[in-house]
Amino acid sequence: MKILVTGGTGYIGSHTTVELQQQGYDVIIVDALFNSRVEALDAIASITGKKPEFEQFDLADRQKVDDFFRRHGDIKGVIHFAAHKAVGESVEQPLKYYRNNLDSLMNILESMNKYGVENLVFSSSCTVYGEPDPENLPISEKAPIKKAECPYGNTKQIAEEILQDSIMAYKGLNAIALRYFNPVGAHESAKLGELPFGVPANLMPYVTQTAYGIRPFLRVFGDDYDTPDGTPIRDYIHIMDLAKAHVKAVERMLQGKMKARYEVFNVGTGTGYSVLDIIKSFERSNGVKLKYEIVGRRAGDIVKIWADPTYTNKELGWKAERTLDDMTRSAWEWEKAYREGKTCFKIDENN
Ligand code: UFG
Repeated sequence: MKILVTGGTGYIGSHTTVELQQQGYDVIIVDALFNSRVEALDAIASITGKKPEFEQFDLADRQKVDDFFRRHGDIKGVIHFAAHKAVGESVEQPLKYYRNNLDSLMNILESMNKYGVENLVFSSSCTVYGEPDPENLPISEKAPIKKAECPYGNTKQIAEEILQDSIMAYKGLNAIALRYFNPVGAHESAKLGELPFGVPANLMPYVTQTAYGIRPFLRVFGDDYDTPDGTPIRDYIHIMDLAKAHVKAVERMLQGKMKARYEVFNVGTGTGYSVLDIIKSFERSNGVKLKYEIVGRRAGDIVKIWADPTYTNKELGWKAERTLDDMTRSAWEWEKAYREGKTCFKIDENN
């Protein structure tokens, strides 16, 4: 069974490719390498023993997408990760986000319909829920979609609408949108992990880079929120648990188990942790002290959100298994392995 993984050299895509290959799927990756590195292919091979097929091009190019699907008649399903994902950048350059994230999705859907590829798993995000009303926590798939806080978030909302409309119109198509909470951590081998370009925008890579001495200290964005310790709460999920959820979604489609031709699942653990919880877990599980300072709030931050994963647990037959300490430990093991030159990735001195 061959699965197309777009964005397969990126953080979530590469870990999902490992899991797919280990479950017996053949993977072909398409990635433009805008925000990822080609060495991810070797890293995947070093874990699974098999280098995935790879083509480098921009999925926003309609002709190239059509040509790709025409040449690959054996693809049974698509997992579409490829997208720009930086919240701040999306505010500065909204059209870059709308064009890339939406054109690539529409190109893929058009070609899937044309060439008879039926099954699509889409990377959505808990960002579609915005700041949940307190009575909606933990948040289920039935909670209302709120107006997006940024163009990036809006591309996820619009993408879900494009999927629904396309599924209605094109009878051969099925889609599952997975709404991720906060993926963190790395593969247990420390051969693969999160490798952001430039200064990390997200918490966990900032934590590990600070611990390694790349950054002088972690800035904790505000401790005066309405939460038990004053710092915001998220549902952090181990990247390998998230990877497994994709395999379950693919299986569900290929085995004809969908209840409707478009389905949505929350992919979170069901437990919320604060920024200070993350710091404590990191220090405890790794025996490392982390330098941090409380600074002002970051504009646009959600105060608290965590998943109600009941429907996903029951319907998808998937449950997050790894603990917060597993997340912080694997993230640190990966950072050290990368910095010490023990991985397939070239060390970027500016990063
Ligand atoms: N944080 C810090 N210091 C940092 C980085 C983050 O204190 O240097 C805090 C943030 O304020 C927040 C928490 O750590 O409270 C998590 O922040 P992240 O940036 O790691 O994650 P977000 O929840 O803000 O963002 C994630 C995804 C986005 C998505 C968003 C939707 O990374 O792609 O959820 O809410 F849009």
